[in-house]
Amino acid sequence: MDQSRILHIEAMKLLVDVVQALSLARDLETIMSIVRVAARQLTGADGATFVLRDNGQCFYAEENAISPLWKGMRFPMSACISGWVMLNKQTACIEDIYADDRIPADAYKPTFVKSLVMVPIRTDAPIGAIGNYWANPHKATPAEVELLQALANTTSVAMENVQVYMELENRVITRTKELEEANKELEAYSYTISHDLRAPLRAINGFSNLLINEANEQLDKDSLFYLQRIVSESKRMSGQIDDLLQLSMYGRAELKLTSISLGYLANEIVANLRSRAPGRTVEFWVYDDEQIKCDAGLITTVLENLLSNAWKYSAKKDKALIEFSSRAGADETVEYCVRDNGAGFDMQYADKLFAPFQRLHSNKDFEGTGIGLATVQRIINKHGGTIRAEGVPGIGATFHFTLPRNGPR
Ligand SMILES: Nc1ncnc2c1ncn2[C@@H]1O[C@H](COP(=O)(O)OP(=O)(O)OP(=O)(O)O)[C@@H](O)[C@H]1O
Ligand SMILES: [Mg+2]
Repeated sequence: MDQSRILHIEAMKLLVDVVQALSLARDLETIMSIVRVAARQLTGADGATFVLRDNGQCFYAEENAISPLWKGMRFPMSACISGWVMLNKQTACIEDIYADDRIPADAYKPTFVKSLVMVPIRTDAPIGAIGNYWANPHKATPAEVELLQALANTTSVAMENVQVYMELENRVITRTKELEEANKELEAYSYTISHDLRAPLRAINGFSNLLINEANEQLDKDSLFYLQRIVSESKRMSGQIDDLLQLSMYGRAELKLTSISLGYLANEIVANLRSRAPGRTVEFWVYDDEQIKCDAGLITTVLENLLSNAWKYSAKKDKALIEFSSRAGADETVEYCVRDNGAGFDMQYADKLFAPFQRLHSNKDFEGTGIGLATVQRIINKHGGTIRAEGVPGIGATFHFTLPRNGPR
């Protein structure tokens, strides 16, 4: 094979690598740093520039050359060759720059350039240009021009991709902001509502108690019983309002991040549960080597809820088994799992578990108010994590949650 064919094949290989690298680029800086190197390598030129069309000017944004060219400088479109290329939507091949009146000689005198090729980026509506420069007179071959044009075409696709990508990213940022705003409003709303509901409830409770105490003689047995129900139910409602208030506080809390081991916390919590129920036989296993950044107080609340659920809903098993484990997840997250072999639940209702006051078991079987998992979800979401539950009736339940290793992003 002759030398020029070998060189051409090498150049094609390089071009394929460049196409691949460009397809992964997510910002203009990356594109420019790939192209400034590739443009020179493809042709073996002594210099290359990356020019952007910027508000009617040619902005020499990047370069890679044996000695400085015009990096960071701006020229009017009408006064430089990249401008000519963009305005005329065609390539310029110039063997002797001082013999071509499109070239502003003064700008070239301080440089090494004798010959050049300039190709437009996006031929139908140019958004920039790529230049190649030689220190010795050089007549660019059709193969060299073709390679540069191929590079410019790929660059134009990559630049369009970056634009689409940035638009999408901006849209995600706007949506997230809107969601956060809406969430904040909801938090504030539920805080106000729960707060305002307390006053009338206190009145109902107070007047019912007055009736019980002061009109006791005039009331028959049934009326007295009804009044007592009013008092006990209003107390229950007051407890629920307190829970809701507390829940909205979790959403509003500022996170205080420290580095901790959840496995260590889990051991402490279970030791505490054990000391309060000495009669129970519960095997507890921890598999966790992870250390993560989170709000220790809030995450303790999460683990207390999940582990005391596992403890409570496995109370009817002779040999209860609870497991806490972790493993590294994708994107710098840690995946945790709390598993028990207790009463389990029907997966059909799995999405209800995390809503306030939703319970899948009756108070007769297992006591509770149904606020624990709503709290857990709120805290995990606040950390930028997620939680889901799996259950099989009579076999057990597993709660999987993720947390970012280095705190919320
Ligand atoms: N480990 C578990 N096994 C089986 N069911 C569970 C488990 N954890 C939660 N559940 C189901 O999810 C419901 C909601 O749990 P959550 O912790 O929110 O409330 P709770 O335990 O009933 O009351 P509390 O507010 O006192 O925690 C429970 O009522 C129960 O039906
Ligand atoms: Mg609970």
